[in-house]
Amino acid sequence: MRVLITGGKGMLGRTLQRRLAGHELFVADLPEVDMTDPAQLREAMRTFRPETVIHCAAMTKVDDCESKRELAFLLNETGSRNVAVAAADAGARVIGISTDYVFDGHAARPYSETDEPAPATVYGASKLAGERAIAEVLPDRHTILRIAWLYGSGGPSFVHTLMRLGADAAGAPLKVVDDQIGNPTSTDAVAEVLAWLLDHPINGVVHGSCEGETTWYGLARTLFERAGVKRPLQPCTTAEFPRPAPRPANSRLEKARLHEAGFRMAEWQDALARFLQTERF
Ligand SMILES: NC(=O)c1ccc[n+]([C@@H]2O[C@H](COP(=O)([O-])OP(=O)(O)OC[C@H]3O[C@@H](n4cnc5c(N)ncnc54)[C@H](OP(=O)(O)O)[C@@H]3O)[C@@H](O)[C@H]2O)c1
Repeated sequence: MRVLITGGKGMLGRTLQRRLAGHELFVADLPEVDMTDPAQLREAMRTFRPETVIHCAAMTKVDDCESKRELAFLLNETGSRNVAVAAADAGARVIGISTDYVFDGHAARPYSETDEPAPATVYGASKLAGERAIAEVLPDRHTILRIAWLYGSGGPSFVHTLMRLGADAAGAPLKVVDDQIGNPTSTDAVAEVLAWLLDHPINGVVHGSCEGETTWYGLARTLFERAGVKRPLQPCTTAEFPRPAPRPANSRLEKARLHEAGFRMAEWQDALARFLQTERF
């Protein structure tokens, strides 16, 4: 299949390039293809004629989005609309990558695909606007794949930060937040479901984080155990780490649509173990 990947040089995009190497790929990223420039997108789509566009490009720095609201919406909403319009023009379907941040994280259970989004951050609001733009332009030819707590080769990610800080074995105990819960997810696991979605298109919103759940502290503990990192860890609360953009207390995503379709994401511990076999920090 001919697949165009926006943001193909980013953390997820790089894994996708490897996983989808058997397909014909076109990487659309800065500086060659700027998603805020409809003409550049149209030219790329008309030349390459993708059958599917996997739209990874985004403004992903959650705290920066709070202080740069206009830019966040330009990239995450208008950029997504531009991608969808150019894809529609080329006859392609779009798989847009989105996030658990479309929810405020107050629910006491995993979020389902039918739950009403209620973003509490500019990042979440701009990504939700991007979801809606794609759905509006390509009502019958799109998938919104929501993922969460992502790490992948080269980072940047929580896993990379912890491994860097953990290298100081004699350092004071590392405080890690233990009152936010989610599904740690590797880019490999996401690339796997994206490869499957190319052959099994599902229209609309699909949740695609890894199976199983833990807190950031739980993830850090498992990471350090598996990687043999000796620096001690200490659980703490969100209140001890104030951030410009509030982090959702609950980022868990229920994966009903994938289960119904017969696809199961990797368990987060298995995905992490596989990642540690190859990643060099
Ligand atoms: N990371 C997470 O924890 C997480 C969780 C849930 C969902 N997601 C979603 O997953 C997707 C991939 O995330 P990621 O972590 O792989 O992000 P990333 O590493 O930041 O990659 C995004 C890519 O998009 C590019 N880009 C930015 N502005 C662009 C523009 N105007 N035109 C074209 N390309 C542009 C970036 O280039 P520059 O680096 O040069 O800016 C970068 O290569 C995003 O949609 C994100 O919202 C991520």
